[in-house]
Amino acid sequence: MTKKWWHGKVAYQIYPKSFYDTNGDGIGDIRGIMEKLDYLKDLGIDIIWISPIYQSPFVDQGYDISDYYKIDPKFGTMEEFDELLLEAKKRDMGIVMDLVINHCSDQHEWFQKALADPEGEYGDYFYFRKGKDGNPPSNYRSYFGGSAWEKVEGTELYYLHFFAKEQPDLNWNNPKMKQELFQMINWWLEKGLAGFRIDAIINIKKDLDFPSYEPDGPDGLVRAIKMVEEVDGVGELLEELKEATFEKYQAFTVAEVFNMKEEELEEFVGENGHFSTMFDFSAHMLTFGKHGWYDAKEVEFDAWREITFESQKKCQGIGFLANIIENHDEPRGVNTYLPSYAQNTDGFKMLATVNILLRGIPFIYQGQEIGMQNCRMESIEEYDDIDTKNQYKTALESGCSKEEALEACYKYSRDNARTPMQWSGKEQAGFTTGKPWLKINPNYTQVNVEDELADQESVLNYYKRLIALRKSEECKELFTYGSFEPAYVDKEKIYAYYRSLNGKRVLVAANFGKDAMELELADDNCKVLLSNMDGAEAFGGRLVLKPCQVIVLEEVSK
Ligand code: GLC
Ligand code: CA
Repeated sequence: MTKKWWHGKVAYQIYPKSFYDTNGDGIGDIRGIMEKLDYLKDLGIDIIWISPIYQSPFVDQGYDISDYYKIDPKFGTMEEFDELLLEAKKRDMGIVMDLVINHCSDQHEWFQKALADPEGEYGDYFYFRKGKDGNPPSNYRSYFGGSAWEKVEGTELYYLHFFAKEQPDLNWNNPKMKQELFQMINWWLEKGLAGFRIDAIINIKKDLDFPSYEPDGPDGLVRAIKMVEEVDGVGELLEELKEATFEKYQAFTVAEVFNMKEEELEEFVGENGHFSTMFDFSAHMLTFGKHGWYDAKEVEFDAWREITFESQKKCQGIGFLANIIENHDEPRGVNTYLPSYAQNTDGFKMLATVNILLRGIPFIYQGQEIGMQNCRMESIEEYDDIDTKNQYKTALESGCSKEEALEACYKYSRDNARTPMQWSGKEQAGFTTGKPWLKINPNYTQVNVEDELADQESVLNYYKRLIALRKSEECKELFTYGSFEPAYVDKEKIYAYYRSLNGKRVLVAANFGKDAMELELADDNCKVLLSNMDGAEAFGGRLVLKPCQVIVLEEVSK
């Protein structure tokens, strides 16, 4: 495997609106990111992915871009962004921007021109089609609910939007449109970005016949992604994109890809893949309900262990996946993947350890490192997210009570991870001096950066030790390039694996169960590299793991 600069790096996702506000308007900003660079450096972060900060009407929190070349004034100015790039570089950190190119905002100049003249040049930047017998061109349901086709007033035409109606899909069959995107991407790369996180990219390939399919819900519609699953050829578009842009700059790219055809893994993230890496969403997918959040199931340990191990096995020898326990679209990982009895700081450290030492590129989502948790809202009005509002409605329509619908939001809402970062136990969690745009989790008096920095036993200081171990001279190569091999899969509630390289082998073992568990070790001489509990020792080839205990052991006599 050819070595790349980003192998072995640790990444961090910033959700800028909720990270740190420096001017008291209740919204995080670029200056706020700058002020916290040393904090991130100290944590051990190398790559920072910032969710969209481009000009946007914020119908979908910036994932609806109205000008790709501008910074939204909410966040600051382009000069501040350039300063951020510089400051990051000084600290040997790279900035990764979000690239949202499946769709843009309906306020984008292209779409405004297209609406004014759908038959004209800009009309072809999007997908305008005639309806059929007074109905939309096909029966696709958008990701946020309702038809994926929106009628253009006063015409027979509809335009396609896989997400909100304010997010029209861009036509990737139009060479001119593609060139405009490529030019824009290169313009950003020229500034010195380390790369991009690439949003919803699998959706760019469309079947231009837009066939209808058998409905999959009581609304008579079918998930729009069904068409994406049926159509071939996304690879050609992705190669074109890579060759015209990223490749020339050795940019790091991490793609958001659901619904890839399994046999295409190598084409996506292999040695010469379309992307450097892509997120492993296999665990997150366990939380999908058949019809929505209201009929989603809790994640079961066995299924979670099996699916994450499968991803690891499939990818080794091919490339690297990016490993996460949460992001801005998912609830907090500690609420999703830990059983209720393990939702404490020992459990948080345990989950962190098994996730971050996997083979791949670890991404930490803001607040994860201090143990931030889902936030209970009193009513649907307290939520901001478009998807949450839609899921709440769907739940009510399917017969749930308001309480049940709200409970589903508590478990699965995207706003769980979007509440402001908890910097201190002081007013507004030290996030803002004004009124925060979204409720702050009331647990900030216990869970916050300031207090945790001062406490050696805190989740935050544990994350630092964990990342430092991953990047240490002795273990860096092993945790980056070492193979992955499941261990003790016959043991109930034990999540364990080996990482090995050139005769060196390390065991990562965690007990997600309620009872202590004894394990026979393959080597009776083991050294403890890390544990979340005091007095962790492995004697004479046996190891007893307490509930919520994780241990990282190096086999010494091997
Ligand atoms: C991605 C983003 C999500 C957004 C969607 C539409 O899934 O992560 O936040 O709503 O794309 O751009
Ligand atoms: Ca601000």
